Amino acid sequence: MGETRLMSLTNLADADDDWAYLELLEDDDLERMRQWTGQACQDPGQRTLTQIRGMTRAEGLLYNRRRRDWLDAGPTWETSSVQQAMNDIGAVLGAGGDRGATDVPFVVGQPGVGKTMLVKRIAAEVMDEECLAQWAEEQRTPPTVTRAGRRKVRFRPVVYLDVRDQVSAIGLERAILDALGEITTGDTTAAVHRALQLHNVRLIVIDELQFIAFGSKMGQQIHNLLKGLTNQGVQLLLCGNDREWVLGHGGDEVSYRTTKRQSSGRWVEIPLEPLLYSDDPSAPSVDEWKNLLAEWEHRLRLADPGPEGWLHEYLADYAWVRTHGFHNALSLLVRQAARRAIDDGTERITRATFDRVVLQVEYEKHREHEVRQLDIGKYRFDVR
Ligand SMILES: Nc1ncnc2c1ncn2[C@@H]1O[C@H](COP(=O)(O)OP(=O)(O)OP(=O)(O)O)[C@@H](O)[C@H]1O
Ligand SMILES: [Mg+2]
Repeated sequence: MGETRLMSLTNLADADDDWAYLELLEDDDLERMRQWTGQACQDPGQRTLTQIRGMTRAEGLLYNRRRRDWLDAGPTWETSSVQQAMNDIGAVLGAGGDRGATDVPFVVGQPGVGKTMLVKRIAAEVMDEECLAQWAEEQRTPPTVTRAGRRKVRFRPVVYLDVRDQVSAIGLERAILDALGEITTGDTTAAVHRALQLHNVRLIVIDELQFIAFGSKMGQQIHNLLKGLTNQGVQLLLCGNDREWVLGHGGDEVSYRTTKRQSSGRWVEIPLEPLLYSDDPSAPSVDEWKNLLAEWEHRLRLADPGPEGWLHEYLADYAWVRTHGFHNALSLLVRQAARRAIDDGTERITRATFDRVVLQVEYEKHREHEVRQLDIGKYRFDVR
């Protein structure tokens, strides 16, 4: 799982000359970029059992909080499906070239498969790149500044929208304006148009697309709004778990069908799938799953986690049976187990710790039967 340029930056705040361009970003965008690349939290460091037991109550409390935060705020591990999706999204976004942004990547996948983490990762990449491009541009043509030497307009290359509550077209426009810190009492469409130009917005990410009111008459307006945004040269990156709701049946009027056809003629579906596993230990999927577990194992800050490889070697089969290769389940499994190991003072995770963890309903449905099959050697990973 390769490190990208951004991921190798350990602390954006310590940016030296090579990173001077990041000063173009507002503090809140810089913070977003840190979060989206898993750098929002400082490593609390590894302590021995003796050191932990010698801590005062306050020191212990603080250390425990910091190592939980550290685990929660991890980076997007670049599994092959994440890499593939990143490449595909990059290709679609890149194909537009300057100011020709009509093609729209639409990331689709089951709940918990890692869509949000993926699109935030992309958003960070684009923010980084656009920032560098703007900086280079401004070396030649400096921007207008105030008397105090501050930029007149905030540079906001990327807007990330996490929409909720069956948002309408106007609601979506207001969400864009909100994200840019603009207020309007008048025509929202015109205000959005102005704001996007003013702040140099290049990419709008709309996550949780299933919350948008596509099912009703309003859906037609939303499709048109999205088309209007791309016509204006802003790139869109869409994300949701229900393709049918967004582009499928419903809203049978001819005019609405035509509008959906217009979107499906421009959107490119990028599927994101859970990780696979196999009965054949030499299969690439087994390697990949183990690598992912190793990343989690190395991220833990337990004093006595177990012998090297305790997770990726000895519990790999078990971890897959519990989670079916879904990131959200794996993340909960490891984080809950770590919390227990901290709370009970053992500082160690074993199969028994995992057994006590209750995962999301979806992964508990067949748990008992499947774990039993695994334990008696009858579980078949390849038959799914
Ligand atoms: N590539 C990844 N590397 C590390 N952890 C991941 C990755 N993808 C997802 N996760 C973990 O899984 C959790 C769920 O992922 P995410 O929120 O991206 O899923 P989603 O597909 O957007 O789900 P939903 O459809 O419910 O919105 C994250 O909070 C994170 O802990
Ligand atoms: Mg999500």
